[in-house]
Amino acid sequence: MKNMSLNEVREAYLKFFESKGHLRLPSFSLVPKNDKSLLLINAGMAPLKPYFTGVQTPPRNRVTTCQKCIRTGDIENVGKTSRHGTFFEMMGNFSFGDYFKGEVIPWAWEFVTSVLQIPKEKLYVTIYLDDDEAYEIWTKSTDIDSTRIFRLGKEDNFWEIGQGPCGPCSEIHFDRGEGKVTTVEEFLKESDNDRIVEFWNLVFTQFDKDEFGKYNKLANPNIDTGMGLERMATIMQGKNSIFEVDTIRAILDTVGEYANVSYGKNELIDISLRVITDHIRSVTFMISDGILPSNEGRGYVLRRLLRRAARHGRILGIKNNFLYKICNVVIKNSCDAYPELKEKEGYIKKVIKLEEERFAETIDGGIEILNEYINKLEKEDKKILPGEKAFKLYDTYGFPIELTQEILEEKSMDVDIEGFNNEMENQRQRARAARGESNYMGAEDTILNKLPNEILTEFVGYDSIECNTKITLVANNKEILESLNEGEEGVIIFEKTPFYAEMGGQIGDTGVIISEQVKATVVDCKKNIAGKILHFVKVTEGKLLKGEFVTLRVDETRRNNISKNHTATHILHAALRGVLGQHIQQAGSFVDAEKLRFDFNHFQGLTEEELYKVEKIVNTEIMKVYNTKTELMSIEEAKNGGATALFDDKYEKEVRVVSVGEFSKELCGGTHVKNSGEIGLFKIVSESGVAAGVRRIEAVTGFGAIAYMETKENILKNISDVLKCGEKDIINKVNSQIVEMKIKEKEINELKSKLANGCEDDLLNNAKEINGVKLVTGVLNDIDGNSLRELADKIRNKISEGLVVLGSNNEGKVQFVAMASKDAVLKGVHCGKIIKEVATIAGGGGGGRPDMAQAGGKLPEKLEEAISKVESIMVTLVK
Ligand code: ALA
Repeated sequence: MKNMSLNEVREAYLKFFESKGHLRLPSFSLVPKNDKSLLLINAGMAPLKPYFTGVQTPPRNRVTTCQKCIRTGDIENVGKTSRHGTFFEMMGNFSFGDYFKGEVIPWAWEFVTSVLQIPKEKLYVTIYLDDDEAYEIWTKSTDIDSTRIFRLGKEDNFWEIGQGPCGPCSEIHFDRGEGKVTTVEEFLKESDNDRIVEFWNLVFTQFDKDEFGKYNKLANPNIDTGMGLERMATIMQGKNSIFEVDTIRAILDTVGEYANVSYGKNELIDISLRVITDHIRSVTFMISDGILPSNEGRGYVLRRLLRRAARHGRILGIKNNFLYKICNVVIKNSCDAYPELKEKEGYIKKVIKLEEERFAETIDGGIEILNEYINKLEKEDKKILPGEKAFKLYDTYGFPIELTQEILEEKSMDVDIEGFNNEMENQRQRARAARGESNYMGAEDTILNKLPNEILTEFVGYDSIECNTKITLVANNKEILESLNEGEEGVIIFEKTPFYAEMGGQIGDTGVIISEQVKATVVDCKKNIAGKILHFVKVTEGKLLKGEFVTLRVDETRRNNISKNHTATHILHAALRGVLGQHIQQAGSFVDAEKLRFDFNHFQGLTEEELYKVEKIVNTEIMKVYNTKTELMSIEEAKNGGATALFDDKYEKEVRVVSVGEFSKELCGGTHVKNSGEIGLFKIVSESGVAAGVRRIEAVTGFGAIAYMETKENILKNISDVLKCGEKDIINKVNSQIVEMKIKEKEINELKSKLANGCEDDLLNNAKEINGVKLVTGVLNDIDGNSLRELADKIRNKISEGLVVLGSNNEGKVQFVAMASKDAVLKGVHCGKIIKEVATIAGGGGGGRPDMAQAGGKLPEKLEEAISKVESIMVTLVK
């Protein structure tokens, strides 16, 4: 048996299957494409589902990959054992309707025994109970000792996840112990206790399981195999756990150095070392695939892993942020197989560091609070933390609920998870985006997604906007038809078409269909899941008949505007990379005739200066009147030429590369202007955040940009008309008016207080005396509550003995205040009682102490009447 490094095992595998005619593809992104059934890619076959089901044609019918995978079902166990991990690499060889059991079994045996040179007496094979065919092949086409083959049931040797491709499988196992296992029972027992480990699963994908649980036989059976790279390397290196494998141990040792501890001495320390080692691998790869920490979906998984790792750093006594440094080791050891790690090194570190900092701000506070909760629970002899407390930790201190649970579990406690979920639900209710249900392929199951394979369309729209062609299919949403009649809407497919179908963020073309017999409008053009070009039409005159010839004409002005926006998007993308950094990656884009929208990964909003720079660069490049160029080339050539793309998107033999001079080079299937000068002008209309770490720029070009500027110009013109000054003077004029307004406001306030003082004298002059107590009453306008109170206070002081009751109408709001001297109170005056009655008359209420009370009211028209009542009320109080 050879001692091989993890990277050597990977290379040996891929090379071996290349020698068997397979096309080696780089790993697909961890983010699934067009598959809502998965959060993260979790098996080598996951990104290949469309090839298995035949929805898409693979670049070759034999493919081999080493796929980055993440499984999140067991996060809380990672670290606790030396077996669990979230991140792993799965090697696989795949046949899409090409070879089957007869080839894959002997190849697997050859690889294991000849290339890896694993002794045959260390190997066992399992097959599905009644799979005699597999048994035959194992015994006839390989030299395995047939007593080393065991038959197992569905739970062990039938591979499926939910709906989709599945089938019986055969697994290869390695025995780490001594002596030979002879019975199934013994085999299962030794597998359970980890003496025997499974390392390669050969799935004979014969069925497509539908939504009713029925196993439909696939016309062309496939092969899907999966070998865990880390596990294989563990075996090759004679180790007991993946954490001992060369590249992984290197990470673990680096963590140990930071914490000044070593592995294998103390179980608690080992747990933390393993947690950090595993999680930093997942985190580094996830970020390199454009995932950013957030509170939802993949972003939440990332946040949870990062924060769990950060907490274990604290347990090890690491005080500072360190994860962003540890990721160096991951990058160094894996960047040959995954160049994106090196390309985005700076970005990955920045994202980790930001998230570490964010968590560090609250982690200590959060742990302190949680410890208080725990102490309290202990004192009360309780074991369940209320949901709202856990939610507070989540919401205020950024503690993922699983982290709180884990810390509690260390004290044999738990969270009231239902209570927590209720709190979460309340918070989410508003923000929740309705998520459509999807089937296995993440696509709608309409007739339009199940069209015959032979219907194909040649797209001629890059070079022309018009053509004569034949109608090959007529349909509506439900069925395939022979014709569409006047007034009807439906879907048409043609032999050729100049209509661009919505794709890559470019909206579909619109236009007309004409012939002597028929007139119809094309209102939209889209591709179905298998890439067929569907024209959504409405017949205005005559009939659209299958088999007939018609002329198709794209709305040219609209198309030109779309092309301007699309080319401008490419220039914008390159400009953003120049200004913000090479980590900028497209996260989405949309162009139509009116505007362009470009979403990209960046961790903070753009400053005005950055936006200004970007816009200026784009306009400068436009004015360089570059010719645009489209070329077809291999992926390799495109990559080497520095083209930007999400390369994992496409594995076609040839890709289309669009260049704008030397400035921008992108993989793109869209339509573009012939020369950048046609774009005319580029204006950014807005910059905003659309999700955690995703920014959006919206912009306009050409006449759209001119219209945008004209709107602004009109606003300016209107303002200058209103201000009666030239545009140049607007700012001065507005500034001087603001100053003037402030001066006036001050004057008004001074006048108001003068007026109030004037009132004071008037009121005092009208004072009365009721049963020996002085009474001042009055109604005032436009005086606020404060001033009213101040005035009442002043009057009371002046009259020294007596009662003052004032009412005011301040912009329709009625207010009363009553104040009495001590003496008056002794004589029976009670401000609270008086005010209560008075206010009731004015439609309000209130009350207060004997010496001071205030109230409001709603009926200004009753104010005079109310105040006039004071006298009679007082008579009843002061006898
Ligand atoms: N798809 C199979 C697995 O994941 C190979 O085990």
